[in-house]
Amino acid sequence: MDKLKHIISARQFDAPEFLLGLFESANQMERDDTFRALRDPLRGRILATIFYEPSTRTRFSFEAAENMRESSSATKGETIEDTIRIVSGYADAIAIRHFEQGTAEAAARISPVPIINAGDGVGEHPTQALTDVYTIKKELGRIGGLKVALVGDLLNGRTIHSLLPLLCLYPGVRVNLVSPWQLRLPLRHREYLLEKGIAFQEGEKLAGAIDDADVVYITRVQRERFASEEEYLAVKDSYIIDAAIANSLKPEAIIMHALPRVNEISPEVDDNIRAAYFRQAKNGLYLRMALLLYLLG
Ligand code: CP
Repeated sequence: MDKLKHIISARQFDAPEFLLGLFESANQMERDDTFRALRDPLRGRILATIFYEPSTRTRFSFEAAENMRESSSATKGETIEDTIRIVSGYADAIAIRHFEQGTAEAAARISPVPIINAGDGVGEHPTQALTDVYTIKKELGRIGGLKVALVGDLLNGRTIHSLLPLLCLYPGVRVNLVSPWQLRLPLRHREYLLEKGIAFQEGEKLAGAIDDADVVYITRVQRERFASEEEYLAVKDSYIIDAAIANSLKPEAIIMHALPRVNEISPEVDDNIRAAYFRQAKNGLYLRMALLLYLLG
């Protein structure tokens, strides 16, 4: 795989070997004794975080990259192109989140410094997907051959749109798509799975779809993407994983969520051994450090 300058889409990653290297680097970050030395190449480098939508995890995990200084820019009606032209003069890399799909790609077209897509509308969220696959590997030791159930708002959930291309890199992965019909995975992503020869099933019912899953990845229904409150209310609590459902899963199964959650996972599940979502969020720090080192180190 050629060296990437920008991180815009998970479809840019076409080699499992690259991901393995990135995961090894993230793993090293996690080891306290090497953490400091490994981050040295980032000392004094500036990451600009330009977020036009709220974020806790993505933004803080990027900003927690020690030895980097951060800046952020709020919009005053300036075009994204002008903002990128200006900020790229101040920073060594830019992480951008925007409500419009394609914004990160537009930024990358004109930016002399690396652009990292931190979520573009209903498009993609590649650094979350890298975090997710890293988490699966850490938790279960492998990715190939696993059965992965993706549950919830598959229409608007950009984390899912980025996760699927990464899963396609591993042989034998089977995918179960569970959503209300209104929130079905968009055609272009289903076509991508077909093109890559990934076995997948679709349905609306949780029962039966997750019983033998190795990974149950549930998503928030993305209220901010709905045209009306009525449409949101019709599907908002379609799936809720409670203690009974969590305990019905295979003992070694893991429950994942990019967070923030609303009602999708009851708090009573948090102490269940299968609940991997808080570890998943923590992994985002190490994975993003490894990615910054790849881009700037
Ligand atoms: N998972 C995720 O993108 O969370 P934030 O919106 O808090 O960044």
